[in-house]
Amino acid sequence: MAFKTLASFVSLLAAFQVANSAVTRRVTCSNGQQTANAACCALFPILDDIQQNLFDGGECGEEVHESLRLTFHDAIGISPKIAATGVFGGGGADGSIAIFEDIETNFHANNGVDEIIDEQKPFIARHNISTADFIQFAGAIGVSNCPGAPRLDVFIGRKDATQPAPDKTVPEPFDSVDSILARFADAGRFSPAEVVALLASHTVAAADHVDPSIPGTPFDSTPELFDTQFFIETQLKGTLFPGTAGNQGEVESPVRGELRLQSDFELARDQRTACEWQSFVNNQRKLQSAFKAAFRKMTVLGHNVRDLIDCSDVVPNPPAPASQAHFPAGLSHRDVEQACRQTPFPVLPTDPGPATSVAPVPPS
Ligand code: HEM
Repeated sequence: MAFKTLASFVSLLAAFQVANSAVTRRVTCSNGQQTANAACCALFPILDDIQQNLFDGGECGEEVHESLRLTFHDAIGISPKIAATGVFGGGGADGSIAIFEDIETNFHANNGVDEIIDEQKPFIARHNISTADFIQFAGAIGVSNCPGAPRLDVFIGRKDATQPAPDKTVPEPFDSVDSILARFADAGRFSPAEVVALLASHTVAAADHVDPSIPGTPFDSTPELFDTQFFIETQLKGTLFPGTAGNQGEVESPVRGELRLQSDFELARDQRTACEWQSFVNNQRKLQSAFKAAFRKMTVLGHNVRDLIDCSDVVPNPPAPASQAHFPAGLSHRDVEQACRQTPFPVLPTDPGPATSVAPVPPS
């Protein structure tokens, strides 16, 4: 009896030690930095290299925006619906967009991603990392340069693609809300709320190819800040085209120098997504937590997360938010196209000064 009690006490103690060591065990890498897993040590030199030589010393500029867009265009390349017809449906976040650059960059929705693929390739070549892991890693590190961003999760261990993703897996700005929601549901069972959360990415974004006459035209007035302005400004009445009219996938925007995608406009007003969209206005905490969770899910599409190594502690802490939610100068609550029927639009101050005109994101 006494032996039995002692034995169960010992096994309890062992279980406690295992659980405890899983929480506290740290590895010190050769450069002195600490991480939870020795395999993550290889990421520190890559981090330093991309911060210095891809992201211009830690900026939240064009290469960061393009790297973030690339995480999506690689990961969303998966379709169980296509696979069910007996055809390869894509491998998700498997690097196929860069490995099969010649094929996938010819897909209409991938217009322009060849630029960042070509910029990233030398980094992949000089480090020991899979293309699939690099694309997601570079996106997460890039976002950590943007004030107000969440600290995104990073996993390694993805296997590189051996086949390209099929065409039409990346949504287009002229797709209907029905088709966009169906595409995300097919790719990874994303809910409409998760789709809205993923679109927080458009707070650090600009378009080069929607209206090619005005490359670098941002989607909100603060493209270097991970703030809620995108969710505010997409709800304002559109009054102008920043460049030429008649571009596919573009609708009128409320601010000079700002471009509005038709898909963002419609998602902000559709009854399935409007209240979720509005809920991000002036809610930095929700912006951070919801984007972090949805991004994590996106970056492991096509993989079982239990087969991957969590290296999230390698990611630097992003700078604190650097803006207060506001209406751009010259605009106010009167310009809101209220779409959510349940909750009123939050009360916000208007920026002082003459009507806002946004500068393009400079190429670097
Ligand atoms: C409904 C889904 C989406 C559509 C239709 C869409 C469409 C677009 C379009 C048309 C552009 C402009 C490309 C150009 O002309 O240069 C763009 C830019 C961008 N997108 Fe999306 N997008 C979607 C979802 C996402 C998601 C889920 C992410 C990331 C998680 C993302 C990240 C970005 C970023 C960061 C840019 C800016 C790239 C730059 O500044 O160079 N997008 N998107």
